[in-house]
Amino acid sequence: MSLEEKLNKLESMRAEAKLGGGQKRIEAQHKKGKLTARERVELLCDANSFEEFDMFVTHRSTAFGLEKHKVLGDGVVTGCGKINGRMVYIFSQDFTVFGGSLSEAHAEKICKIMKMAMRNGAPVIGLNDSGGARIQEGVVSLGGYADIFLLNTLASGVVPQISMILGPCAGGAVYSPAITDFVLMTKGTSYMFVTGPNVVKTVTHEEVTSEDLGGALTHASKSGVAHFACENEADAITRLKKLLSYMPQNNLEDPPYIETDDPFDREEQSLNHIVPENPNQPYEIKDVIRSIVDVGSFLEVHEDYAQNIVVGFARLGGRSIGIVANQPAILAGVLDINSSLKGARFIRFCDCFNIPILTFEDVPGFLPGTDQEHGGIIKHGAKLLYAYCEATVPKVTVITRKAYGGAYDVMNSKHVRGDMNYAWPTAEIAVMGAKGAAEIIFKREIAEADDPEAELKKKTDAYSEWFANPFEAAARGYIDDVIEPKTTRPRLIRAFEMLETKKDSNPPKKHGNIPL
Ligand code: HXC
Repeated sequence: MSLEEKLNKLESMRAEAKLGGGQKRIEAQHKKGKLTARERVELLCDANSFEEFDMFVTHRSTAFGLEKHKVLGDGVVTGCGKINGRMVYIFSQDFTVFGGSLSEAHAEKICKIMKMAMRNGAPVIGLNDSGGARIQEGVVSLGGYADIFLLNTLASGVVPQISMILGPCAGGAVYSPAITDFVLMTKGTSYMFVTGPNVVKTVTHEEVTSEDLGGALTHASKSGVAHFACENEADAITRLKKLLSYMPQNNLEDPPYIETDDPFDREEQSLNHIVPENPNQPYEIKDVIRSIVDVGSFLEVHEDYAQNIVVGFARLGGRSIGIVANQPAILAGVLDINSSLKGARFIRFCDCFNIPILTFEDVPGFLPGTDQEHGGIIKHGAKLLYAYCEATVPKVTVITRKAYGGAYDVMNSKHVRGDMNYAWPTAEIAVMGAKGAAEIIFKREIAEADDPEAELKKKTDAYSEWFANPFEAAARGYIDDVIEPKTTRPRLIRAFEMLETKKDSNPPKKHGNIPL
């Protein structure tokens, strides 16, 4: 065969690989509002930056006549490319080939790029669209999944791992994403479930649609499995690119610095009046966040899940930060099981990847009641506490209003290695709210008073005067400074600048035992 003939053969094999499961199945994919595996990669990567590997890999199975049905690439496109000039490793499952199901060879391709990502220190992006283990390959494909789960776990905290769910993902296809750092789903076209509606019906006799069982909104709002529910694939890719912009390439690097036009010394007058005088009146913590961080830089994570806590990324003076904020507008910002889980996981991601943490605190405490106690608020709340205690990245807190009880300790207090702890003059740092406290400690005086109502008010005011302010804590150095709200941005920028050279560590150990 001449060189020219060999080159022609190469070209025709490449063309065949690019067709995946064939034109008919590509059209079916488009009809469902989905892109193909390669179209997704094109959209994700900077122009002409994607290098594909293992295009000629095929499966090795001979079961069920499979030897007559081999597709070049075996249902997954793998390689590396650049996103906004930064290297990432990508696998993109091709639903047109055996429903994107995972064979031995398919798994090996994914494992190969994961190992490269770890060695070379760059994020792994998985574009998942898969019916799970390839049924015809049996235990070999189960082994392939286990190999991926192991690498997901070993890569955790070494390089960022992000999963996009872009089709029906079942079985093993959901457990790998679950181990990764962030999961993005598309509304109406993506599903995640251990088993689909048919199996559910057989086992539990429940009738449920795919959407209700494992659609994007279900996982973004009810289970918390998904961090983002995106409008469509283009929206998901845009969000993924933004998400990546806050992260370093790996755990040994710092996040990228992004120039901002927003003045470092900008003061925000509206913040002086944002906290209502009535401590029971809500306000929107996201307004506080947006007015302090670099303009337009706030990206909320887990927006629809456990909304009584807000987490997300932003920049302050060009530096990436992770924000954890109690949300007084939802359930008074109380800490419950789901908000503790949400906060803890986010804090641990930031700590893995050298992203400083900013905490806004306005929290009346942990949510009481049998639901929460029986659900394990003690062990779940302890996760949030553990995550804050364990984190060694720069940690800054601003107490805007309530810091009551255990929640004062948990939300990055000085005692759990908060580096800089600020309070607004509206802060109330106390064991509990003034009225509740007065009812307990002045119980007898109130009961015996001629006018118990008036006595309760008097005692509540007295307690407020004494404890419901930041100065008791400031007198002990638990609060580094009481700041005028409008100056919060410049104060925080200076704090994080000062902490840029922070070095702290935990005692050497195999790993801690977070109360899972
Ligand atoms: C082999 C599969 C497949 C699979 C789908 N296909 N899933 N082939 N192994 N797991 C093939 C179909 O035969 C079909 O081939 C094509 O992919 C498209 O599938 P359809 O069913 O026509 O598509 P759709 O109606 O959109 O339904 C998609 C689906 C469904 C929801 C994913 O196919 C499905 O439920 N598949 C099985 C899911 C599952 O139970 N997987 C095993 C999980 S156990 P043709 O040739 O017609 O195009 C597991 C173990 C790991 O993963 C556990 C780790 C903890």
